[in-house]
Parts: sequence; structure tokens; C-alpha cells
Amino acid sequence: MRNLIDITDLSVDEINELIEVGKDIKQNKEKYFGKCKGKQLATLFFEPSTRTRLSFESAMLSLGGSVLGFSSAASSSTAKGESIADTIKTVSSYVDIIAMRHPQEGAATIAAKATKVPIINAGDGSNRHPTQTLTDLMTIKSEKNRLSNFTIGMCGDLKYGRTVHSLVAALSRYENINYIFISPKELKMPQEVLDILKGKNIKFEEVENLEENIGKLDILYMTRVQKERFADEKEYERLKDVYILDMQKLKNAKQDLSILHPLPRVNEISEDVDNDTRACYFKQVENGKYIRMALILKLLNIAKK
Ligand code: CP
Repeated sequence: MRNLIDITDLSVDEINELIEVGKDIKQNKEKYFGKCKGKQLATLFFEPSTRTRLSFESAMLSLGGSVLGFSSAASSSTAKGESIADTIKTVSSYVDIIAMRHPQEGAATIAAKATKVPIINAGDGSNRHPTQTLTDLMTIKSEKNRLSNFTIGMCGDLKYGRTVHSLVAALSRYENINYIFISPKELKMPQEVLDILKGKNIKFEEVENLEENIGKLDILYMTRVQKERFADEKEYERLKDVYILDMQKLKNAKQDLSILHPLPRVNEISEDVDNDTRACYFKQVENGKYIRMALILKLLNIAKK
């Protein structure tokens, strides 16, 4: 039985295959309907979500399976004090596969020890978000036709941003990628993520100014400053507007820049950027469903053909 807790639970070959299957599903949706007939997915979301929960549910329904679950801790027995392990032991008696999001770092690892069915980490606190990374990689591959030989800038809340932590872990296994980490000093990439790159002798830069660096980038991965991760609201208020990508800043960017963002956004990308051909974040949303369909098939050992 396979789980997906960290993106490195998948080999590079497996990730590349998932991307190809995701692309095939996108082109040939009807071929996949009914593949999960009789299978059930539980979406256990202890933390808010729009894209991840609904794309998992849409993915399973499009495969002909069914879904059940909850969208907040308040509507589960967690509110009565039940542990993560007991919840997972219980739900894994009912369903074939589980996607879980939880505000606590490491919650997915605890769940993996308790589960009887494949479990997918749909985000654990500020730690990891591997299915967002699959979505990001599918989008980069679709836009650039490669997962190597580019310069990527990651901008915003790199400290608490689980999407960028997982994305660095994934990209560190591909060739010749330059990293520019753009953040205020209070929201720098955590040392344990930088150590992944250092351990492989991969160079990176840490800078504070987006405008001075945007022209070097092939991919710009914007992130939201996450109010829910700050203990001190004043600190959030001070940092929340530090990066706002607008058409003025894009004047210095390459014409073939790809702008990604895991969403939700608050104000860090101005809405007029949405109409620029370089904006890829709603393509990411769409790809998220298809790559999750591919992942469900893989973890349930269901043949694609
Ligand atoms: N990207 C992402 O995880 O979005 P949601 O929080 O809406 O699921």
C-alpha cells in the first residue's frame, strides 16, 4: 500500500508518469470514466480549502467513484477530542482512499501510521503540500515543455508556505534549475528546505526585491502571506502587502515568463495580471483535478489503459 505524505515518496519517474497520465486524462476524459466504479474517497479537511478538496472530490466523481467526508474540524468528532489516529483508523474502515488536510505539521505522518488504506497529504500546516506540487509540475511541463534548465523565483511567504517547501523538494531532483528566493527576512525559506539544495550542491539566491530580480526569471511562483500562520497579527499586517505583482512590475519581465500561484490569492497579484498571457494560475487550478485523478488511479493500483 502506497501513501503520498511527501513529494519524495514518489520517484522522479513516477512523477513524470503521473504528469503524462494527467495530460492524457485532460485530453481524453471519457476514457477514464468508470475506472473507480465502486471505490470511495474520504476528504477529511480539518482546515479550509476550495481547490484541493473540491478537485479531489471532482476527480473521484469523474472516475465514477463516490466521495464522503467533512470540510471542517468542527463538524467531526475532533471537536469532542478525538485524536488524528483514531479518526483515520475509523474512516479507513469505511473507504478505499483518504485525502487529509490538517493545520498541524506532521499530522499526515501520524495519519499514515494509523491508516489501513492509501492516504494523501492534502497539506499539513506549513510543512508540505505534495499534490499542489504535482499540479505545479504538470503546469510547468505544459508551459515550458521541460522540468529542467530554467530560473524560478519563489516570492512572498517562503517561511510558512508549504507549497514552496514541497516544490523545492521536487525540483531539486531535476537538472540545472536556478532558484531565487524573494521574501522579507522575516519570511525566508526555512533552513531545512535550503539544506535540501545545499546537500545536492545546488546554488540559490535569497533576495528581498522583486522588481530587481523579475527580469531574470523563467517562472515566477507567487505566494500569499498567510494570516492564519501568524501568532502576532501586527506582524502579519506589517508584512501582508510587501509584494504585489502588477502590470508595472511585469514590464521588466521576460515575454515567456510563466506566473504561477497555488491560490487562494488575497492581493499579491493584481487582477489585471489575470488577462496577461503569462498568467498560469487558473491553468494550475484546472490541472490540479487531472493530476489528482492520475494519483488516485495510481494509489488504488487501477490500470490506466
Ligand atoms: N492551493 C490550495 O491548496 O488551495 P486551497 O487551500 O483552496 O485548497
